[in-house]
Amino acid sequence: MVLRPEWRGGGRGRAVLQAAVTRADRVHNAGRVWLRVKPQNARERKLFLSEGYVEDHVEKTFGTA
Ligand SMILES: CC(C)(COP(=O)(O)OP(=O)(O)OC[C@H]1O[C@@H](n2cnc3c(N)ncnc32)[C@H](O)[C@@H]1OP(=O)(O)O)[C@@H](O)C(=O)NCCC(=O)NCCS
Repeated sequence: MVLRPEWRGGGRGRAVLQAAVTRADRVHNAGRVWLRVKPQNARERKLFLSEGYVEDHVEKTFGTA
């Protein structure tokens, strides 16, 4: 999920996340939502945690991933 820099910080990110998850549930019967974020991305982690997501695990990657 990426917003243009000039659109960040005004509540749009939270609104987009909520709309996407609502659609996944109601339209696609998702049942479960899984998100991936880099550990150093404090802004996104704070958003996900405040929406009720729970940190599941941390992966170690090699190379440029
Ligand atoms: C991550 C992103 C989508 C969030 O969208 P946004 O519009 O900036 O977020 P919102 O304004 O809805 O804020 C949601 C929450 O994020 C957190 N947040 C927002 N700006 C923040 C900042 N500058 N520092 C720390 N946390 C911040 C807060 O918890 C905020 O909730 P609050 O306002 O109730 O405290 C957007 O910043 C973005 O596109 N970032 C770059 C791409 C990226 O990192 N994507 C994630 C990859 S998985």
